[in-house]
Amino acid sequence: MKSVKVFAPATVANVTCGFDVLGFAVHEPGDEVIMQLTDAKGLCIKDIKGDDGVLPRDVDKNTVTVAIKAYLDHLQVDVGVDIYLEKKMPLGSGLGSSAASAVAGVYGINELLDRPLEVSELLPFAMQGELLACGEPHADNVAPALLGGFVLIRSYNPLDVVKIHTPKNLFATIVHPQIEIATKDARSILKRNLLLKDAIRQWGNIGGLITGLFTEDYQLISRSMEDVIVEPVRSMLIPGFDQVKASALAAGALGCGISGSGPSIFSLSSSVETAHQVAEAMEACFRELDILSDVFVSPVNQQGPLVIS
Ligand code: HSE
Repeated sequence: MKSVKVFAPATVANVTCGFDVLGFAVHEPGDEVIMQLTDAKGLCIKDIKGDDGVLPRDVDKNTVTVAIKAYLDHLQVDVGVDIYLEKKMPLGSGLGSSAASAVAGVYGINELLDRPLEVSELLPFAMQGELLACGEPHADNVAPALLGGFVLIRSYNPLDVVKIHTPKNLFATIVHPQIEIATKDARSILKRNLLLKDAIRQWGNIGGLITGLFTEDYQLISRSMEDVIVEPVRSMLIPGFDQVKASALAAGALGCGISGSGPSIFSLSSSVETAHQVAEAMEACFRELDILSDVFVSPVNQQGPLVIS
């Protein structure tokens, strides 16, 4: 029977000032999903590797199958699909783990059915996976995982997603301390009301960041990478956040912040050499705190999902 194996990448959501509206994809880590059409009807999760048995095998509770099911319901297609999920990234890491799985799922099923939908049309189905994972269908991980590159969610209702130019010399450093934070929990602690002065600073920064990306103005990107709304609250969940951020900036990063809902911390740099120096500095900082971490350095991934076989 026809089968496909798809890789979908990790993503950095929020990118400091763009809570729920800005994200970009990286080359690694990411998740792999193998899907095979079968004669039987319905979805079946045959195997999940790399999750220590934590993820639900029930198709109504797993982000991959919920996203695939939303896609099949929309097309009113009743096919049988066996699914094998290989988690190659940590759960609760702030790297868009649930998004990578959901995107690999919807991209893969669309391939198996000979692409009845455009890639951009798959986004609402992948968002259903996020709704299941954290209670909100936020798109700032699934959109860049699906479309590649830097992505802005200009509006959720109606959904309006805009690809943002990526400057030539932009490299991400991501350090994942080996602790777990559930996105649901990291969302529940956020303040519901904002001060107007903070909102003004935040939307000035996001305008500056987008402009800096389009004009390849690295100093403007640097000045704009500031989050006065979410980071002050969430950084309390990440041991050593202030020291790690200070070490990244001292090593030459343009800016630094929490990746998605954390605990991963990301930086952007304007050369690959600096991105590696920043990685060393951030990792060393966590080591001093006796916290082991995984480190990734990557340009922005323009491709998004990839059919491996
Ligand atoms: N925008 C989401 C949040 C991303 O910060 O809660 C989660 O990865």
